[in-house]
Order: sequence, then C-alpha cells, then structure tokens
Amino acid sequence: MLRPDLKTMPAVLVVSLLCAVVARAQSATPAPENGTLDVEQVFAGTCGYCHSDGGRAAGKGPQLMDTARDDDFIRNRIKHGKQGAMPAFDGAFTDAQIDQIVKYIRALKPREG
Ligand code: HEC
Repeated sequence: MLRPDLKTMPAVLVVSLLCAVVARAQSATPAPENGTLDVEQVFAGTCGYCHSDGGRAAGKGPQLMDTARDDDFIRNRIKHGKQGAMPAFDGAFTDAQIDQIVKYIRALKPREG
C-alpha cells in the first residue's frame, strides 16, 4: 500500500517533516497590507549593509543600539540621510514606517549567547 503510515514511518522522518513545515510557516512573512513594515527584515536588507548585525554593531555606519540621539534626530537622519555617508530614505518609507524603525532601534538588545 502506498498510503503513508505514521506508525511505520521512522521517527526521524516524521520529525524532519514537521521541522520543514514549521520552517516554512516561519519564513512565510505575510505581505504588509496595512502599510506596516517587517522592520527586522527591512533593516537587514536596506540598512544592514552599513549598520551591522541589525544595528547592534558598527559597520560602514555607526552602531545604532543604545544610541544617544533623540527620536527627532534619528527620524531626520533616516529621512534625509547624510551627504556622502548615508542615503536619504525620504521616498522609501512613510512617516509611520520611519516611526516603526525608530522603535526598532530603541528596542535593540545585544543578541543572546
Ligand atoms: C551606505 C551606508 C548606509 C546605509 C545603507 C544606511 N546608513 Fe545609516 N548611517 C550611515 C553613516 C555613515 C552614518 C553616520 C553619519 C554621520 O556621520 O553622522 C549613519 C547614521 C545613521 C543614524 C544616526 C546614528 C547616529 O548615532 O548618529 C541612524 C539612526 C541611521 N543611520 C539609520 C539608518 C537606517 C534606519 C537605515 C536603513 C533604512 C540606514 N541608516 C542605512 C550609513 C548608512
């Protein structure tokens, strides 16, 4: 019989099947329909080139975690960039999305381990 039978399937196979299902569920990020960003993903893709480790470490740009700058400064820097140093993201994000990024930066913690 071809019907897969869980009782005879090796446990290892069952576990790896389950893992594959879970991994798929996690990587399937829903399309942001309400204009909110998956900030972590956006940051990694758009900012991570210069702000390393999700903003936790310096790269071409400074470390953002624990920044002493205030929210207005951060918002402005993201919107207008800095000539010769950082591109402006004025047209890329709405104000609400930039606020989300500011919150993300404020919430940054060192990685566990
Ligand atoms: C091409 C490299 C580059 C990219 C891409 C980039 N940055 Fe920057 N960023 C910099 C540099 C360099 C500085 C330092 C500017 C200066 O001299 O004040 C900076 C500064 C900042 C600051 C101010 C930090 C401080 O303490 O002065 C923030 C906040 C920031 N970036 C956020 C972002 C975010 C959010 C993104 C993605 C949307 C991003 N950056 C993308 C290079 C980059």
